[in-house]
Amino acid sequence: MVDISSSSCLIFGASGGLGRPITEQLAARGANVSLVGRRFSRLADVDAEGPRIEADLRYPEAASKAMQTAIDAHGGLDIVVNAVGVVAFGPAAELEVDVLEELFLTNTFVPIFVAKAALNHLRPGGLIANISGVIAEQNLPNMAAYGASKAALKAWDDGFRREARRSKIQVLNARPGHTETGLADRALAGSAPKFPTGMSPQHVATVIVDGIAEGQTDLPSSAF
Ligand SMILES: NC(=O)c1ccc[n+]([C@@H]2O[C@H](COP(=O)([O-])OP(=O)(O)OC[C@H]3O[C@@H](n4cnc5c(N)ncnc54)[C@H](OP(=O)(O)O)[C@@H]3O)[C@@H](O)[C@H]2O)c1
Repeated sequence: MVDISSSSCLIFGASGGLGRPITEQLAARGANVSLVGRRFSRLADVDAEGPRIEADLRYPEAASKAMQTAIDAHGGLDIVVNAVGVVAFGPAAELEVDVLEELFLTNTFVPIFVAKAALNHLRPGGLIANISGVIAEQNLPNMAAYGASKAALKAWDDGFRREARRSKIQVLNARPGHTETGLADRALAGSAPKFPTGMSPQHVATVIVDGIAEGQTDLPSSAF
């Protein structure tokens, strides 16, 4: 079990629709947070004290540098949350190679870069939380590449979790359904299908933060 109170937490994607309430809820529960986003300006509005780190996580060394900043600020690192992601829509035949690369680089490779770095920086007893998605459980037409990038992350976590256990590190994979963060309106390509109204970001953040506090390793879509 991870004691959130007075822990040191680093949130990647802290400026995002899910990353922001996760960061604010962790801080409200007493965590010492460090915030990472691609654009510094978007981190300013997050209602939590802690260092703001601008980083493009597509560069493998960026995760490690951010973790060192968190350790310098808070004396160690206990929890790493990865709330970074991008989406694209459209028929497979129309998917451009650069969009495919961007999807898998950000949604699959970035969490792998983060996990590898975290093994060298987390204190024993620490936890890594990744946000995959309901689409990893049931992929959809016109979202096949996004769904595959998220299913790959779920598969990575299933294997990596068993390795990380030897270093006394827990790995949590969360698979929320559609959430009203605006992500679908920021697609790299294509237009979103008409989704029913999604869950509130606050609700999804609460389920994830509760899962971290309870030491869960898996939050399937049914947990949300
Ligand atoms: N929203 C949903 O319906 C839903 C459902 C299930 C799963 N998820 C997953 O949950 C995660 C968060 O989604 P969200 O809805 O909160 O999206 P969001 O609001 O667009 O937030 C994405 C975050 O990722 C950051 N980011 C993107 N690329 C980056 C990069 N190369 N380096 C560093 N940071 C980068 C963004 O930084 P900037 O703010 O600086 O751009 C932002 O903080 C994603 O993995 C998404 O796939 C979302």
